[in-house]
Amino acid sequence: MQAMRDDIERVLFTQEDLHKRIAEMGAQITKDYKDVDDLLVVSVLRGAAIFMGDLVRQIDRPLEMDYMVVSSYGNDSKSSGVINIKKDISSSIKGRHVLIAEDILDSGLTLHSLVENLSKRDPASIDIALLLNKKTPRKVHTDCRYVGFDVPDKFIVGFGMDYAEKYRNLPYIGILKPEVYES
Ligand code: IMP
Ligand code: MG
Repeated sequence: MQAMRDDIERVLFTQEDLHKRIAEMGAQITKDYKDVDDLLVVSVLRGAAIFMGDLVRQIDRPLEMDYMVVSSYGNDSKSSGVINIKKDISSSIKGRHVLIAEDILDSGLTLHSLVENLSKRDPASIDIALLLNKKTPRKVHTDCRYVGFDVPDKFIVGFGMDYAEKYRNLPYIGILKPEVYES
């Protein structure tokens, strides 16, 4: 069996880096939502599940968790900007405070479309906690209230993020060697 580390060009964030930054984000969220009585944290499976799991454990207040499964229409390599909801959240968000936990923002199309969709359901508020913001020029603007780190425009894996469904279980975040997806 081949070691996953051999496919990583460079480690960007270690377990310690991630723990520290997510703790800071959680502390800020705890503070910002202190006067809110109802908080629902939503993530999009599968990539953001690990980040969300770590983030909610750093938020020191009652909250609920829910999940969505979406796919973007069009070809696989690029977001089309229209999401197809394959599994929706289980409850109504009308009048509720919603915080979306997302793993990575590339073109921004997925998140933009998701926010547009959820906003139509009349939530009291809707904000985004984003772990990684990819520095790419092709971005649809979406305001993220909380951002973990900026990352270069490279293929990123680990901590929930995959290439062909692999590497999600890496405890750190790294850049995948191009030869892995070019071969
Ligand atoms: P966007 O619609 O182009 O912003 O794409 C966002 C989604 O694509 C993320 O939620 C990820 O699931 C996936 N994605 C974008 N960039 C990467 C990457 O570098 N590695 C792994 N998944 C990525
Ligand atoms: Mg995703």
